[in-house]
Amino acid sequence: MRLQTHLSQVTPFMRLDKLLSNSTGISRTEIKKAIKQGKAVVDGIVAKSGSAHVNTDQEISLFGQAINEASPRYFMLNKPEGVVSANRDAEHPTVLDLLIDEPMYEKLNIAGRLDIDTTGLVLLTDDGKWLHNITSPKKKCNKRYLATTKAPIDPNSVALFEQGIMLKDELKPTHPAVLNILTENTAELIISEGRYHQVKRMFGATNNRVIALHRAAIGQITLDPDLLSGEYRPLTQAEIDSIK
Ligand code: URA
Repeated sequence: MRLQTHLSQVTPFMRLDKLLSNSTGISRTEIKKAIKQGKAVVDGIVAKSGSAHVNTDQEISLFGQAINEASPRYFMLNKPEGVVSANRDAEHPTVLDLLIDEPMYEKLNIAGRLDIDTTGLVLLTDDGKWLHNITSPKKKCNKRYLATTKAPIDPNSVALFEQGIMLKDELKPTHPAVLNILTENTAELIISEGRYHQVKRMFGATNNRVIALHRAAIGQITLDPDLLSGEYRPLTQAEIDSIK
C-alpha cells in the first residue's frame, strides 16, 4: 500500500490513532483496525493501542511505510467546463470536488485558476514554494492557451501582444506575450502572468471576443492527452522538477 502522509496535520504530541489518521487521511476506524492487526510500529515496537501518546520525533510506520516524512503532492487535472477553480462553491462543482478520493484533498491549492467556462490544465499541490514558482509574475512561468474568437483575429495583435497592452483598470501593461495565429478564429497565446480574465481581456482590447478557451500547458508541463475531461493524475518527478 502506498500511503500519502501529511505531517502538517499533526501536532507534536497526540494519540497514535489520531496522528496516523491525520497524517494519512485514513479513517480513525480503519486505523484502529490496522493497529489491532499489528500494522503500526513505533520506534521498532508493534503498537498495541491507538490511545498511546506519540510525537513526530518517534519513528512511526503503518503497513511497513514510514509516515514521518511529509510528502507534498502534485496533480494535473483536465478541467471541464462548468467547474469552478475554487475550494468551495455553493452553486457549482469545484476542481477540488474532482479530487475527493485523495486524502485531505481540501488541503490542495490550485496553481493558477481558470474561469468557469475555460477547460484544460489545472495543477494542484500542497507545496507552497512550488505553487509560488507558478503563480508569481516575477517567476515568469509561461502558460499556453488555445483561444477561439468570435471575429477573425487581427494579425496586428501579434505585435500588440508582444509589446504588452494596457488593460482597463490596470496600472502596468501586460508582460510580452507570444501569439501564434492558427486559423482565422483560433490562436495559441503564451503569457507569463495570470491576471484576472487576462486572455479574454487581451483579445477584448483588440475588439474581439474569446468564445472558447483551453489551457494546454504551464511551463514545461503539458496536459496529458490520456486524461479525459474531469480526470486527474499525479505529476511525474520530471514534471515536478521542471518548475523552478
Ligand atoms: N485568461 C482568461 O481570460 N481566462 C482564464 O480562464 C485563464 C486565462
